[in-house]
Amino acid sequence: MERVTPALTRPPGPKPRPLLGLFREFRRQPADFLERAARQYGDLVFLPLGPQNIYLASHPDLIQEILVARQSQFKKSRMLERARVLLGQGLLTSEGKMHLRQRRLVQPAFHRDRLVSYTAVMVACAAQCRERWQSSVENTMDLAVEMARLTLAIVARTLFSANVDSQADEIGTALTEVFKMFEFTLLPYSEWIEKLPLPPIRRFHRARALLDSIIYRLIADRRAAGARDTGDLLSMLIAAQDEDGGIMTDQQVRDEALTLFVAGHETTAVALTWAWYLLSQNPQAETLFHAELERVLAGRLPTFEDLPRLRYTECVFAETLRLYPPAWGIGRRALADFAIAGYTIPAGSIVAMSPWVVHRDSRWFPEPLKFLPERWLAEDTSRPKFSFFPFGGGARVCIGERFALTEGVLLLATLGQRWRFRLESGQRVETRPLITLRTRYGMRMTAVAIPQR
Ligand code: HEM
Repeated sequence: MERVTPALTRPPGPKPRPLLGLFREFRRQPADFLERAARQYGDLVFLPLGPQNIYLASHPDLIQEILVARQSQFKKSRMLERARVLLGQGLLTSEGKMHLRQRRLVQPAFHRDRLVSYTAVMVACAAQCRERWQSSVENTMDLAVEMARLTLAIVARTLFSANVDSQADEIGTALTEVFKMFEFTLLPYSEWIEKLPLPPIRRFHRARALLDSIIYRLIADRRAAGARDTGDLLSMLIAAQDEDGGIMTDQQVRDEALTLFVAGHETTAVALTWAWYLLSQNPQAETLFHAELERVLAGRLPTFEDLPRLRYTECVFAETLRLYPPAWGIGRRALADFAIAGYTIPAGSIVAMSPWVVHRDSRWFPEPLKFLPERWLAEDTSRPKFSFFPFGGGARVCIGERFALTEGVLLLATLGQRWRFRLESGQRVETRPLITLRTRYGMRMTAVAIPQR
């Protein structure tokens, strides 16, 4: 890319409209809005969205520069700053030294040897889920709900050794309420509006109180049991000590635990929901997927050792993350004036990077709107690294990346051994990009049994 001497002019972009007109368009379908802007105006776009102006960077090299090479010149964006209302100072929302300390503390829970033990839980939960469907008279279900339930159970059991099955629906509803609140935090002046006793704000407080009560109970049970490090994440957090010997307060443990509950289940559930949808719409890929399961597993449940041989399934998951990246937008705030691609981004500005926009760019992915898992079978070294970045990059890269990739493949495999899915007639399919790329109308599908040998 050609670089010129940094100037003080703004990159190209749409003209501001009266009465927050552009902002309203952005809010209606933010991912599509960003995509249109990038296609029309290029790799660095200025979006005058009213009080919250945004610079959209859509070239992989620019993204690498922001997320990796010059990451110290940024902090997290307003949305994640605002997420502190829920997540406090957990891994996702903390900054600087605090973030570094928490990251070191949480990292061991994601080491490879731990992951091996998690795979058994992932498969057991998925097997339980497919049996439940087997015995159900009703074969039509909302896969968005089913996948969220399943991934929530997995994160609870793997990271917290907790069984939350009986409360899964309650937790799911509370999380949905909390996510709605995040949508609201994108609005200008939400800092002031949220102080008003409005019904959605009261619902948010109730939902947060419920999540807190569940997590504080888990912490209290564990402390009562002696606060030893029994190997799961919760006991590690409780037993962890600072260099000066201080331990984490209940509030700190709560922030970290809730962060992992939220970050660790919603994203994977969203990805799996879109995967079943994409498979149902692409019969050739669906056939190859089921054939691989039959060939590699021959009817038995998958294990960690099977992962390298479930290549096509892995490609299905990767291609889903390309077309429907659950974290569809990543934001940063410039700490000081920032020179990039011939422009100067003023201190305090928000820089947005969208996997949705970049993953659908024909420069990196020919026929970008087609679901073609085979494009991942051979490594393509000609593509720039950040043309595919569903898990972000740099110091803030997703800590659960390997966890999620393993979980994605194992859940697709375990469920796909028994079932294929057909979209219910009349089901509308549209994205609803909140923090994650949810489905706007759920995903009601009919499960069709696969004949067993
Ligand atoms: C398909 C599934 C997933 C996707 C697409 C995803 C995506 C991401 C992305 C893009 C970020 C970086 C955000 C930023 O830079 O602003 C992130 C951060 C994070 N993710 Fe994930 N994630 C997934 C699954 C998971 C899982 C399974 C866990 C935990 C069990 C997890 C925990 C976290 C945490 C704690 C962070 C914050 C890391 C930090 O700032 O140090 N994620 N994720």
